[in-house]
Amino acid sequence: MRPARLLPSRCACTMVRAMLIARTLPHLRDACASLRRSAGSLALVPTMGALHAGHRALVRAGVASGAATVASIFVNPLQFGPSEDLARYPRDEDGDLAALEAEGCALAWLPAVDVMYPAGEATTISVAGPAERWEGEARPGHFRGVATVCAKLFGQVRPDRAYFGEKDWQQLQVVIRMASDLLLPLDIIGIETVREPDGLALSSRNRFLTAEERAIAPALNLALRRSAGRIASGEPVAQVLSNARAGLEAKGFEVNYFALVDGPTLAPLTSASASGRLIAAARLGTVRLLDNVAAPG
Ligand code: PAF
Repeated sequence: MRPARLLPSRCACTMVRAMLIARTLPHLRDACASLRRSAGSLALVPTMGALHAGHRALVRAGVASGAATVASIFVNPLQFGPSEDLARYPRDEDGDLAALEAEGCALAWLPAVDVMYPAGEATTISVAGPAERWEGEARPGHFRGVATVCAKLFGQVRPDRAYFGEKDWQQLQVVIRMASDLLLPLDIIGIETVREPDGLALSSRNRFLTAEERAIAPALNLALRRSAGRIASGEPVAQVLSNARAGLEAKGFEVNYFALVDGPTLAPLTSASASGRLIAAARLGTVRLLDNVAAPG
């Protein structure tokens, strides 16, 4: 097992940056203790690697807060179902470490599976409420995996705050609920979705879209934005939702859900509300795209 080490690297301006890398719990603890002493606070960005500009924005937010920022890279088997894409989940450790370092990340945490899930363990975390519908129905056990790994990461790093992308809106609400219900002493902060210029939300899975699918994919975000406008202008919600679904299906999407929900609780809404959020999941070929927009009415 490789130890924690300094990763000295030279950027174009010849400045030398150094990001710590920890692969074992003792190294993580030492590194976190020393970063907390020097910076005063810690921010955590949990990731599964294959980092893109959306993850980089999370790290930048952590760094901008003045905290020493820790990013974890762990492809969490517990959040993948038996028929899901754990084996093909993209992995690029060197590229990820370079991206984290370039954003000013102080420490990368790369635990092995047996560090996160020691043999004989008997505890997982199930969140009800916001985890029950939508992704919770489409991917049974997914949020149990997310909540469990996040709770472990929070316990390991003990950050003052943790950053999550709004792209996975339901995940963000599930983690907020879990941290609040378990009285965990940290703030969960959501960061706005980073998009391609044509509106497609960045995702590690976008690389699996064919050229033809990639050309169609931005229609999901467009449908969400147009629907939010229609809801705000008073069109009946049911009509807006069924038009959007039909339009996407005509373009070749297999729509899993396209719904207006209460932002924090994910409860479905049948009429416009100040807390409305439009959420959607739709498959294009082998890729399941998720997106959401604010839809206050
Ligand atoms: O959003 C993700 O990449 C994962 O669900 C997370 C939060 C890192 C937990 O494994």
